[in-house]
Amino acid sequence: MPRPSELRELLRPAPFTLDATERRLNRAASIGDLRTLARRRAPRAVFDYTDGAAGVGELALRRARETFARLEFHPTVLTDVSGVNTETTILGKPSAQPFALAPTGFTRMMHTEGERAVVKVAQRERIPYALSTMGTTTIEDFAAAGPDARKWFQLYLWRDRAPAKDLVERAAAAGFDTLMLTLDTKVAGARLRDVRNGLAIPPQLTLRTFLDGATHPRWWFDFITTEPLTFANLAGASDGTPGVLIDRVFDPAITLADLEWLRGHWPHKLVAKGVQSVADAKAVVAAGADAVLLSNHGGRQLDRAPVPLELVPAVREELDGQAEVLVDTGITTGADVVAAMALGAHGTLVGRAYLYGLMAGGERGVARAVRILADEVARTMALLGVTEIGQLRPDHVSLRPGR
Ligand SMILES: Cc1cc2nc3c(=O)[nH]c(=O)nc-3n(C[C@H](O)[C@H](O)[C@H](O)COP(=O)(O)O)c2cc1C
Repeated sequence: MPRPSELRELLRPAPFTLDATERRLNRAASIGDLRTLARRRAPRAVFDYTDGAAGVGELALRRARETFARLEFHPTVLTDVSGVNTETTILGKPSAQPFALAPTGFTRMMHTEGERAVVKVAQRERIPYALSTMGTTTIEDFAAAGPDARKWFQLYLWRDRAPAKDLVERAAAAGFDTLMLTLDTKVAGARLRDVRNGLAIPPQLTLRTFLDGATHPRWWFDFITTEPLTFANLAGASDGTPGVLIDRVFDPAITLADLEWLRGHWPHKLVAKGVQSVADAKAVVAAGADAVLLSNHGGRQLDRAPVPLELVPAVREELDGQAEVLVDTGITTGADVVAAMALGAHGTLVGRAYLYGLMAGGERGVARAVRILADEVARTMALLGVTEIGQLRPDHVSLRPGR
């Protein structure tokens, strides 16, 4: 047996971080690891609201993830990849990464730091972030937290157009450079986990809530000691279940005419979010959209919807350079992002990936999520044999049959 003095030659003491959150975040090596931390940290109803999708089998989300998992890369190994550059141009302006942070509602429920934390990370990492109409931070507070961030605003159109017009004007005044109109949420999707968990805003006081307080004391302490959770941009519509809110506030009668109306009121880039067919992509571009976001809302609306990634090549070909093609739903790794770009996307968005980070550790958790994805993007590009996003081609990937 070596003596203690000899052990020092064989083993180095690990640097010790006092802060437990920091320690756990540093050890998280993938978005899946952050999801595990998030699950422990957040109450069940909050985690399930974020993690869950629509329908009995949550098939739209599951299929989207399975499709990414079935992609095979075809590298070229004889190129010099000493200087990989992940920067690209999305909607006319630079983004340090080929992914942006998707708009998500109820964000301060995941962690009370909410959108402010996310926009600070977006600013530091130089990637765009979209504030949701269902967000929990006002347009102005969001802009104040990330004055130099690339800010996008996601709009839901509700029955009365006047407040929507007001939001659009406020977003323009606050320096948002892109507006996304979400088209896939005319009625609420069937979020069965939320029904089972009795999710509501504000949370209902039940025996279950008390028990949850005992198992997630930190979340509850934060929740009751910080400003109340409200839909900061939706005056007068601040409580109910997510489904009831969507059904009360949103307009099931939206058509192309509404997109044209919006085009007339928004002078910057306009994105149609939730497009799921070649025909609709053509139509929204003809009505004035600068980009289509192929998305099924992370599987949270129409279950069994098409896998957005699979639409990318056909939509890109049909639009033939008239508009950009963005894609989301099911992205959990930087390799997924690279694959989507190789198939022809001009950019991607991630939703849950950064929300798991937010739940796991507020701003630091979001930063960790973005770093994990960014490192994976750079490493995948290097191993594929490309140094610029523009070098990615469809023949860098193929879809393996089956699993
Ligand atoms: C918790 C949560 C809330 C969301 N809220 C909104 C929203 O308010 N508006 C919207 O257009 N999309 C919303 N989405 C959809 C996202 O913008 C995005 O399309 C989706 O998360 C992408 O899939 P991914 O989570 O697999 O990355 C939400 C998604 C999640 C997970």
